[in-house]
Amino acid sequence: MSGDGTRRTEQGPDELRSTGQGPIEQRPAAPRSAGQPSTGGLRPEQLRSHQWYGTDGLRSFSHRARTRQLGYLPEEHLGKPVIAILNTWSDINPCHVHLRDRAQAVKRGVWQAGGFPLEFPVSTLSETFQKPTPMLYRNLLALETEELLRSYPVDGAVLMGGCDKTTPALLMGAASVDLPTVFVPAGPMLPGHWRGETLGSGTDMWKYWDEKRAGLIGDCEMAELENGLARSPGHCMTMGTASTLTAAAETLGVTVPGASSVPAVDSGHDRMAAASGLRIVELVRQDLRLSRLLTAEAYEDAVAAVLALGGSTNAVIHLIAMAGRSGVKLTLDDFDRIARTVPVLANLRPGGRYLMEDFHFAGGMTGFLSRLTDVLHLDRPTVSHPTLREQLEGALVHDDEVIRVRSRPLAAEGGVAVLRGNLCPDGAVIKHIAAEPRLLAHTGPAVVFDDYRSMQRTIDDPALGITADHVLVLRGAGPKGGPGMPEYGMLPIPRYLLEQGVRDMVRISDARMSGTSYGACVLHVAPESYVGGPLALVRTGDTITLDVAARSLHLHVPDEELDRRREAWTPPPPRYERGYGALYMEQISQADTGCDFEFLARPGATPDPYAG
Ligand code: FES
Repeated sequence: MSGDGTRRTEQGPDELRSTGQGPIEQRPAAPRSAGQPSTGGLRPEQLRSHQWYGTDGLRSFSHRARTRQLGYLPEEHLGKPVIAILNTWSDINPCHVHLRDRAQAVKRGVWQAGGFPLEFPVSTLSETFQKPTPMLYRNLLALETEELLRSYPVDGAVLMGGCDKTTPALLMGAASVDLPTVFVPAGPMLPGHWRGETLGSGTDMWKYWDEKRAGLIGDCEMAELENGLARSPGHCMTMGTASTLTAAAETLGVTVPGASSVPAVDSGHDRMAAASGLRIVELVRQDLRLSRLLTAEAYEDAVAAVLALGGSTNAVIHLIAMAGRSGVKLTLDDFDRIARTVPVLANLRPGGRYLMEDFHFAGGMTGFLSRLTDVLHLDRPTVSHPTLREQLEGALVHDDEVIRVRSRPLAAEGGVAVLRGNLCPDGAVIKHIAAEPRLLAHTGPAVVFDDYRSMQRTIDDPALGITADHVLVLRGAGPKGGPGMPEYGMLPIPRYLLEQGVRDMVRISDARMSGTSYGACVLHVAPESYVGGPLALVRTGDTITLDVAARSLHLHVPDEELDRRREAWTPPPPRYERGYGALYMEQISQADTGCDFEFLARPGATPDPYAG
């Protein structure tokens, strides 16, 4: 937002190209109006909220009267920075169920710092419960965040989230408004336990479900597991999508230091929330807006951190979308380029052994980032320090088994590889560190499923004759085809192969995969089959070669035959005829460009309510 209340962008999309071979490009920051400082103490009349509360007109009179109606004294709010606390708490979201209490700690910090906190309930995206997939609604929460911050008297924002899509959604919306902002991560839940083993949410659910399907455990064990998998509020405590995205947020510099790994029920989480409340008021006074933090360098660092964490493949889509809202062109090729420069240092499930509480006490993200200083941009600011370098000063790692030293990495390269080939001309991804190494160079015959339901119905039928060498292909699961690109990408292994001890196979889809999942799963194939991408043309019996070292995914079918199949292909019927779903189908972009809505991703001015 510029000083006249209008966020401006100076360049069109064509000027934001990145080849992935060099530095990530960024639009110039929005201009500020004369008289508005970029840093240093804002006077009360320079606050954005002054337009609502502090002028002589009827509107300000009305707003002050209504604030008194809320029970506030004038000295409690007049002239103070108004801090919106966007809370994704809900009874249906076990990952955020503690955030109603935690908002009180944020408010405490805001009051103590001389601000005026106002809590706003916003949509919750509850990964487990929301169907067909919360990914369908990420952009809706981003839109809600943006319009809520713009339409109310807000000087700064505290965003409370953590369950998978809530982190990117809140930050995408906030980036489009560009106010001073602090993100408060929901924090991981405590480790699960069962018969002397620690359980990781998601990861061990998939593992023991396969054990049950293989007949190795029964209903009694499953009932015990149901009690032990998720034993406290908080998001998944593996390095799944939630932990990956909150770690990315901390790396971007939009949380207070160390925030992302504090267990949700630790009293340190209350202190972190209060510290965030204290900090946001200071950021408003300094007029330190998100655009100063969310730079090309910051996104490059977030990508490096995600890859070195062995983080979720979902981060690829979300970081590309978040960067787009910040005027930064981040591409799949940037991920692959950076992956070749960073090793995996976090020994965390699903790729490693430990859980987020172990990571927290081993040093958390400050300790972790202190082992990557040679690849980070240390001179950029964060919400709490003038430079990342100062933030990391004195950071320590207390357990080299959880956060490895560079000379003893978990994997020599970052945790995600980007594939190209005639089956995925616009790219696909694989989390190769979570796959059986023997499958990373594999050729086999395809078994094709047109949609998830028909796959579920038939996968265990021995008549299909699937062997461990087959390549399972699922289509109709992309951004439009899913719809919403559900996390179907870890296709189930046929029961009779599980009984033979098979635990991994090459699987290919245009779906996403839970960050807690694992296996040789090629994901995010673009363009998706629903829009006629090559995945729509594969037939059972075609030969496919996956070669991760060569970054290649190849369908061994001649081009002329593919052309014939393309001509015979008919587009599927529309998924929605009306409502939000219809808007989604019209606006959603493909996986390689972040699945944002075109009308939200495009550059351009949006007037503030009081502009002009
Ligand atoms: Fe919320 Fe995993 S279900 S983070």
